[in-house]
Amino acid sequence: MILKNNKENIASAATEILDGNIVAFPTETVYGLGADGLNPTAVAKIFEAKQRPSFNPLILHISSRDQLKDLVHIENDKVYKLISHFWPGPLTLVLPKKEIVPDIVTAGNPTVAVRMPQHPIAKALIEACNKPIAAPSANQFGLLSPTTAEHVKKQLGDKVNIILDGGKSEVGVESTIVEVTKDKVWLLRHGGISLEQLKEVCDSVKIKEIDSNKPNAPGQLLQHYAPMIPMKFIHEVSLKELEGKRIGGLFFKKNTTEIDFAHVEFLSQTGDMREAAANLFFHLHELEAKKIDVILVEPVEEKGLGIAIMDRLVKATNRYR
Ligand code: TXA
Ligand code: MG
Repeated sequence: MILKNNKENIASAATEILDGNIVAFPTETVYGLGADGLNPTAVAKIFEAKQRPSFNPLILHISSRDQLKDLVHIENDKVYKLISHFWPGPLTLVLPKKEIVPDIVTAGNPTVAVRMPQHPIAKALIEACNKPIAAPSANQFGLLSPTTAEHVKKQLGDKVNIILDGGKSEVGVESTIVEVTKDKVWLLRHGGISLEQLKEVCDSVKIKEIDSNKPNAPGQLLQHYAPMIPMKFIHEVSLKELEGKRIGGLFFKKNTTEIDFAHVEFLSQTGDMREAAANLFFHLHELEAKKIDVILVEPVEEKGLGIAIMDRLVKATNRYR
């Protein structure tokens, strides 16, 4: 059930979590499917609901810096620098875990991913629980991430009792994931904080080579984040392939083709990359709900948040190659 934003509903959601159940809640990036991060049985319910392969570790969401010290060892001062610039916000830090973090959260990894979200409802919910909340994006495994409560209802409505409504997620793509080791900062997933922003704070950020056979982040799988309707890049289809099809289009600013679309969406008509990121999953959900046979998408410039957007688009189109 979708519940509107008020104190009582947040309190009910907190009770549900402390009772060992799962709740969907808004964050500024995408909606999360949360459980008590220190209760392994509760966390197992997340995997069950998402039908997610169990090798994928989860992010623990916290509401204060003090909570971080209970969960991880901090062996590099860069951690403090990153936190002071980007928390609360769309940055997830992967750090050596302490004993208290259950193995099911980290999928047996010696490290754990932690993030302090900025969304007031996420913050209030974590505070009310007074526990870290383990949460992946609230979508079925491999499908589009949700940026509204309705999106969650569409994919997981029969599996979760409470969906807290916090409106449309402002950032619209998942958090940037960074692993900080004793002497290095590794970028594991492009997201809401751009590589340029990270480099302003940490002079050297290394991009981790991805072994797609053994990913430790599903965002590192080569196919992911896909709509249920085939999606292709515009420059990769032939007109012949499109004959007789109802076509949906996703453009950055304007329709640059003469194709006869049944429906089109624009990421940002003013050409603002931040607005484009915020609209990305939202428009893909809209297109998915139309009666169309194929979605044609225009690539965006791989600069700033455009890198995270293209990462999602490439993975979604890979499913239909
Ligand atoms: O913006 C976000 O990060 C959203 C909101 C809900 O916070 N969450 C999210 O969670 O995107 P999820 O589970 O869809 O993606 C989390 C990523 C996964 O790719 C996971 O494999 C990676 O974080 N991850 C978690 N723990 C890790 C670890 N110890 N080492 C490497 N990657 C890790
Ligand atoms: Mg996800």
